[in-house]
Amino acid sequence: MTSTSQPLHVAVLVGSTREGRFSPVVTRWLTGQLARRSDLTTDVVDLAEAALPTVLPAFGQPLAQATEETLAPVAARLAAADAFVFVTPEYNHSYPASLKNAIDWHNEQWHAKPIGFVSYGGLSGGLRAVEHLRVVMAELNATTIRNTVSFHNAFGSFGADSSVDDPAVDAAAEALLDQLTWWAHALRDAREARPYAA
Ligand SMILES: Cc1cc2nc3c(=O)[nH]c(=O)nc-3n(C[C@H](O)[C@H](O)[C@H](O)COP(=O)(O)O)c2cc1C
Repeated sequence: MTSTSQPLHVAVLVGSTREGRFSPVVTRWLTGQLARRSDLTTDVVDLAEAALPTVLPAFGQPLAQATEETLAPVAARLAAADAFVFVTPEYNHSYPASLKNAIDWHNEQWHAKPIGFVSYGGLSGGLRAVEHLRVVMAELNATTIRNTVSFHNAFGSFGADSSVDDPAVDAAAEALLDQLTWWAHALRDAREARPYAA
């Protein structure tokens, strides 16, 4: 089996760690969409479970052992991903601090990989969070995917089983995952041909 024919590995990053958060509903919907694709495997990286530290080390200093032990498994899971989907709510016109913290703890794990966004919130549907994330992820040498899925007034959008009864939403998810898949293949092939070093 060539690398190109191997399934792409997608890490779903759950951005909200808030108590009582809505993100599990949106994440369940997304993993349902991903499960339809035989060309993709999925790993849900839930930042509430990862409980990353929030104090970064001084430049050049080794990590404390406890910090290293908390970070290492998450770093390995992000490194193993060919592509990411960030599930993000909107907090005060942007994305949650928990997500920024996870982004800042890592670096080369994001390099030359595509990132898709599923957002949710009030009237805005989290779109402003997504636009902020695009700027941040450009700094980390990642490629953000044009199409998004956004849930406006998210609380009213899902059935009890996280289903969404709207063909337009299914179509939006398909377009997002098609674009993510194209970029993930292109960038995986490119990284294999020439390791990313920039
Ligand atoms: C601190 C905070 C700020 C928020 N700011 C916005 C906002 O600027 N725009 C918006 O549409 N919704 C905003 N909301 C509503 C959230 O997007 C919505 O409650 C969402 O469910 C939060 O995600 P979570 O429940 O997974 O944490 C805010 C919620 C919180 C907790």
